Amino acid sequence: MTRNKQIRLASRPSGWVTTDNFTVTEESLTDPEDGELLIKNIFMSVDPYMRGRMNDVKSYIPPFQVGEVLQAGMIGEVAVSRNKDYAEGDIVFGMLGWETFSVSDGMGLSKIPKTSAPLSYHLGILGMPGMTAYVGLHKIGRAKPGETVFVSAASGGVGSIVGQLAKLHGCRVAGCASTDAKVAMLRDKFGYDAAFNYRNSTCLLTSLREICPDGIDIDFENVGGEIFEAALWSMRPNGRVVMCGMISNYNDDELQPGPRGMMSIIGKNLTIQGFIVTNYPEASMEYVKKASSWLEDGTLEYHETIAEGIENAPLAFIGMLKGNNIGKQIVRIADI
Ligand SMILES: NC(=O)c1ccc[n+]([C@@H]2O[C@H](COP(=O)([O-])OP(=O)(O)OC[C@H]3O[C@@H](n4cnc5c(N)ncnc54)[C@H](OP(=O)(O)O)[C@@H]3O)[C@@H](O)[C@H]2O)c1
Repeated sequence: MTRNKQIRLASRPSGWVTTDNFTVTEESLTDPEDGELLIKNIFMSVDPYMRGRMNDVKSYIPPFQVGEVLQAGMIGEVAVSRNKDYAEGDIVFGMLGWETFSVSDGMGLSKIPKTSAPLSYHLGILGMPGMTAYVGLHKIGRAKPGETVFVSAASGGVGSIVGQLAKLHGCRVAGCASTDAKVAMLRDKFGYDAAFNYRNSTCLLTSLREICPDGIDIDFENVGGEIFEAALWSMRPNGRVVMCGMISNYNDDELQPGPRGMMSIIGKNLTIQGFIVTNYPEASMEYVKKASSWLEDGTLEYHETIAEGIENAPLAFIGMLKGNNIGKQIVRIADI
């Protein structure tokens, strides 16, 4: 426990991010000063928004800097504490470096209470992706029982939870994903009523109409581009589009033109609303309470894709952007 392995941003990507955009460095561990903690990092969250932070653009969250250690939602164990609010052995969550150990002054950290749920679930179904699913479906989409919800990137961290929450609420739920195995999992594990493989589809609109023959009331949009366009054409009157993410555009250097079919927003009286989950702390807490008991009684299913070792974090990140993950992508950095 004397060396710290870190992943730094080597260069800003142009188009698709590659392993050349990252560098692995090692340095000696420094002792925490008064008021600080040394945290042994255990699980790291891998998220699509990180791609945006690799660009030098103003956004709701500042860009990563070239040469610096990248940041992620992290769960770790306090190894050394010189901060009165934390004891050695406490399990904490915070935005920390892609590294084996982090030094923190405690700002922005929260303690994770001991529950029956595995620790890593606090990065997924009991963390930000689960909150995003709940806030998007209920606060932005205002889902009503009996409505049809369509979810893109349906088998991912957010999408696999949206489908289950929508079913629990009495909605009909349909989605799309990139492989037959993912589509089977949507139906068999995550409770989707219908799903299709968008990579096999010769016409997205036809495929969508097959799985949503009466149209869509809520489009939970995770992808953008052509899938969004097909969903827009399929909306029912008074439908809501929950703008959660547009992952199909994240590696584009040039901005893409908007979807065709925008006229239907007027004619069908549609609402399109974006959101950032961290702006909804109350609803997020409301969700975590509900999800904890739904997990305990087996109402909710959960799936993770786990990469091993901090040095594999760049590949895990690139793989997630390409769709190699099922459910939430995380990296296990150390054993608890
Ligand atoms: N608004 C918020 O506060 C908020 C918070 C969290 C996440 N998000 C957004 O929610 C979305 C899902 O995030 P997540 O963390 O749950 O990631 P995820 O779905 O676990 O992983 C990303 C998935 O996107 C799909 N994908 C990638 N490129 C695609 C393309 N060109 N066309 C179609 N699908 C593509 C892949 O699934 P396939 O194999 O099926 O293609 C991949 O598995 C992202 O857009 C993210 O930015 C928003």
